[in-house]
Amino acid sequence: MEFGNPKADLMFIGEGPGADEDEQGIPFIGRAGKLMNQAFKGIGIKREEVYIANIIKCRPPNNRNPEKDEAIACLDYLRNQVLIIKPKIIVLLGSVALKNILGEEYAITKVRGKWIIKKEIKYMPTFHPAALLRDENKKIDFWEDLKEVKIEYDNI
Ligand code: URA
Repeated sequence: MEFGNPKADLMFIGEGPGADEDEQGIPFIGRAGKLMNQAFKGIGIKREEVYIANIIKCRPPNNRNPEKDEAIACLDYLRNQVLIIKPKIIVLLGSVALKNILGEEYAITKVRGKWIIKKEIKYMPTFHPAALLRDENKKIDFWEDLKEVKIEYDNI
């Protein structure tokens, strides 16, 4: 459940596969993925040059949020992905990615759009693209956050 360039400087971490993703084993190819593709195009990066992964690697029943133990079961795999790929920037898409990677104390509404630096990796938390499908108003912030990411990415 990952896609992209294993040498990417820029990595995106989502929550977990939806039905389409689970079937094909590729992250972000359904509705949220189409939005991600638009965003990539908008800021001028190719999907193939970045790396896209998810916190959990298979779809929970009825697409519910992953339970804590399910996320923990997949986290070592994701940690190894990060160790191998060595991205300089990681975009955390939504609350599940934020809390599992940086800690339960973080709230997406408070920290989105703000760089958080840990162990030489710059993290940018932003909304999950599926949240934009539910609330159009979040699109402006999401767009601003990704523009900020592109500026930093260009400076690597
Ligand atoms: N939502 C996610 O968090 N990841 C995907 O791969 C697809 C939808």
